[in-house]
Amino acid sequence: MLAVEVPAPAAEEVRRELHRLGLVDPSRKMTKRDGRVLIPVKGPPPLEGSRHGGRVVDGGVLEARDRPRDPREVLAERLAAEGLPRDASPRRWERLGDVVVLRVPSIARERARDLGRVVGEVLHARTVVEDVSGVHGPFRTPDVRVLWGDGTETEHVEDGIRFRLDVAKIMFSSGNLAERTSLAARVRPSEVVVDLFAGIGYFAIPVAVRARPSRVYACEANPAAFAYLEANIRRNRASNVVPLRGDCRETAPAGVAEWVLMGHFDAPRYLDVAVRALRDEGRILVHGLFPREDVPGRAEAEVAAAARSAGADVLEARARVVKSYAPSIRHAVVELRARRGPKGLSGRGPSGPP
Ligand SMILES: C[S@@+](CC[C@H](N)C(=O)[O-])C[C@H]1O[C@@H](n2cnc3c(N)ncnc32)[C@H](O)[C@@H]1O
Repeated sequence: MLAVEVPAPAAEEVRRELHRLGLVDPSRKMTKRDGRVLIPVKGPPPLEGSRHGGRVVDGGVLEARDRPRDPREVLAERLAAEGLPRDASPRRWERLGDVVVLRVPSIARERARDLGRVVGEVLHARTVVEDVSGVHGPFRTPDVRVLWGDGTETEHVEDGIRFRLDVAKIMFSSGNLAERTSLAARVRPSEVVVDLFAGIGYFAIPVAVRARPSRVYACEANPAAFAYLEANIRRNRASNVVPLRGDCRETAPAGVAEWVLMGHFDAPRYLDVAVRALRDEGRILVHGLFPREDVPGRAEAEVAAAARSAGADVLEARARVVKSYAPSIRHAVVELRARRGPKGLSGRGPSGPP
């Protein structure tokens, strides 16, 4: 059986890397032999001679992992046993730490609390909350209701980064994981990042920890999110992150950045702030919601035009889909390679790093 053999201290990091590449064979157990660890893989990874000292080997027979039953199957069975209708079982849910967030199917509305209890027991959660109506307002505040369990504050670990948050106050979108990890792989240690809408550190902390840029300025206006941002910086020892409390229009530094992150659907309104933050040439990542047929195409043309009006020389504009937001709407990122033009030097805000 194909395996990657690594020294034990590097095993967890390599496993995560392989997992990201979709190469770990989940049906077999990791096995320790003579101080080295064999990680079962589905195919040869691009790892040989890697910085971890990993190599691809024939690992012989690796013990099979006991396959847990599909939780959807168990849920359907348990709900039926409780007398809930067949279609009451939620098809999807989001797990953030030990809290499960789900939409209650209309057929289960009358028995929502029973549904919450069964889901909590089957998924071994501490709390189950209903996502009542999505997120709202400039702070993207979730509208949730506790169905079962106790406490909505949790710690969610994603790609080795620990995010503390209260799911009743703060949104978290697991669908943006690929965007978070790919960005961290592109930023260089000498560079400076300005995150205009940092939240609890969704982008700022993974980039700071993985890419080790010289500094990440993280602006956040919501006091509740800001408190978690500070806590998460400490928790992940991301000492290169500078948290800036308040409206990014007032707090974002000018003339410092190679990367400007705009993880908010109101981002186009703040393009002048982004352009001003550039040191010279850099990349501005503008998140937005666009009709499906506009990505790629109109999305990048529109954002590039808005950036030019905000004072940028746009050298390149590319759009990529992050996830589907609604049947005909896409959450996409328009990435601009841009230079701060003469007009981008004017405007309000601090004139340099605080
Ligand atoms: C939607 S969240 C970030 C989501 C995250 N990028 C993701 O994709 O999962 C955006 C954050 O921007 C913050 N925010 C909104 N307007 C702001 C402003 N003018 N200045 C700074 N932060 C702001 C909100 O409070 C919120 O925490």
